[in-house]
Amino acid sequence: MDRGTKPAVLVTGGAGYIGTHTAKALSEQGFFPVIFDDLSSGFREAVRWGEFVHGDIRDTRALVETIDAYGVKAVIHFAGLIEVGRSVVRPDLFWDINVGGTISLLAAMRERGVHRLVFSSSAAVYGQGGRGPLETIPEDAPKAPASPYGDTKLACEWMIAAECRAHGLTAVALRYFNACGADASGEIGEAHDPETHLIPLAIAAGLGHGQPLTVFGTDYETPDGACLRDYIHVSDLADAHVKALQADLAAGVFEPVNVGTGRGHSVLEVVEAVGRALGRPVPHSVGARRAGDPPSLVADPARARSLLAWTAQRSGLDQIVADALRWERQPAYGTGARAVARGARAAAE
Ligand SMILES: NC(=O)c1ccc[n+]([C@@H]2O[C@H](COP(=O)([O-])OP(=O)(O)OC[C@H]3O[C@@H](n4cnc5c(N)ncnc54)[C@H](O)[C@@H]3O)[C@@H](O)[C@H]2O)c1
Repeated sequence: MDRGTKPAVLVTGGAGYIGTHTAKALSEQGFFPVIFDDLSSGFREAVRWGEFVHGDIRDTRALVETIDAYGVKAVIHFAGLIEVGRSVVRPDLFWDINVGGTISLLAAMRERGVHRLVFSSSAAVYGQGGRGPLETIPEDAPKAPASPYGDTKLACEWMIAAECRAHGLTAVALRYFNACGADASGEIGEAHDPETHLIPLAIAAGLGHGQPLTVFGTDYETPDGACLRDYIHVSDLADAHVKALQADLAAGVFEPVNVGTGRGHSVLEVVEAVGRALGRPVPHSVGARRAGDPPSLVADPARARSLLAWTAQRSGLDQIVADALRWERQPAYGTGARAVARGARAAAE
C-alpha cells in the first residue's frame, strides 16, 4: 500500500473488532495503520487499511523490527484477551498476554523512543460501578475490578502510568463501556467467538440462528429491574482513539478517559430495540442474576469532551442496532473462521 507521507501508527490487535474500525478511522484521518496481530481472535480479511504484520505482542524483537521497518511514531494497543468468564478459569493466560504483552510492548517502545500510546482499557476497572447504583462513573471513582480480566486492565494502566513518569511516555487509557454496532458500510463488524455481547446475541436470537436469549435478573434497583449499561458505537470509539492520538498532551502525562455516552439503557430496552428493528419481538426468558454483574455501569463522559473534544455521534440505540443488524445479516468474515479458531483454542487448552 502506498503510504506517502502519512505518519505510521502501530495498531496491536488491529485485526479485531475495535481495531479494524480504528484502522479505518486512522486511514481516513491521514495516518498509516500498521496492524500487528497474531490472528488468535482477529481476521486477516478484516485488515483493509494499512499493512499487516503477523506476530505476538509478547515477542519484543518482532515489535522492535516492525517499529523500525515502518518508522512507527505512535501506538494504539488493543491486543489481548477479552472474555471475562474465561479470565476466571484461566487467569494465567490473561496475565501472560494482557500484562506480559503490555510489558513487552512498552519495552519495544522504550528501546526505539516511541513516546505516544493509546491503550484499550475498560469500564471493568470500576468493578461494581460508581458511587451509587444509578450514578454515572467519573474516572476517579473507586477501582475494584470484579474479574481477573479487569485486574489485568488496571494493572496495565498502573504500569503505563509508571512508564509515563519514568520515561516521558505520553499515554491515554480509554476506558470503554459497552462497545457495539458496526461500521455503516457493512464491510467490517463484530465477529467474536464465543460471542458474549448482548446486541449480537439478541440479533441472533431474533433471527432464529442463535441460542434463545436469557436476561439475567430483572430485580435490580433500576427503573425496569434489568441492568443498565452504556452502549457506545464502535465508530464513535474509533474516533475517540484518533482524537486521543492527536490530543495536545505534555510529555510524561498519563490520562485515563471514559468512553461512553453518559446515558444508560437497560437490557430489556436493548431487547426491545432489536425487536423493533427486526419487526418482531426477540424471544427471551428471564434468568437469575449473574454473579458480579453490577446493576448499572454508565460513564461520566465529561473528561472525553474536555480533554479530547470528543462526544458520541452515532450511539443512539436504534442507530447502533440498525448498524449491527446490517452486519449480522451479511458478515463479510467470521462465520467459518470462528469455528476453526474455536477448535484450535480448545486443542491448545
Ligand atoms: N469489546 C468491548 O466491549 C471492549 C470493552 C472494553 C475494553 N475492550 C478492550 O478492547 C480491546 C479490543 O477488543 P475487541 O473487542 O476488539 O477484541 P478482539 O478479540 O476482536 O480483538 C483483539 C485482537 O487482539 C489480537 N491478539 C490477541 N492476543 C494477541 C497477541 N498475543 N499478540 C498479538 N495479537 C493478539 C486478536 O487476534 C484480535 O485481533 C481489548 O484489549 C479489550 O480488552 C473491549
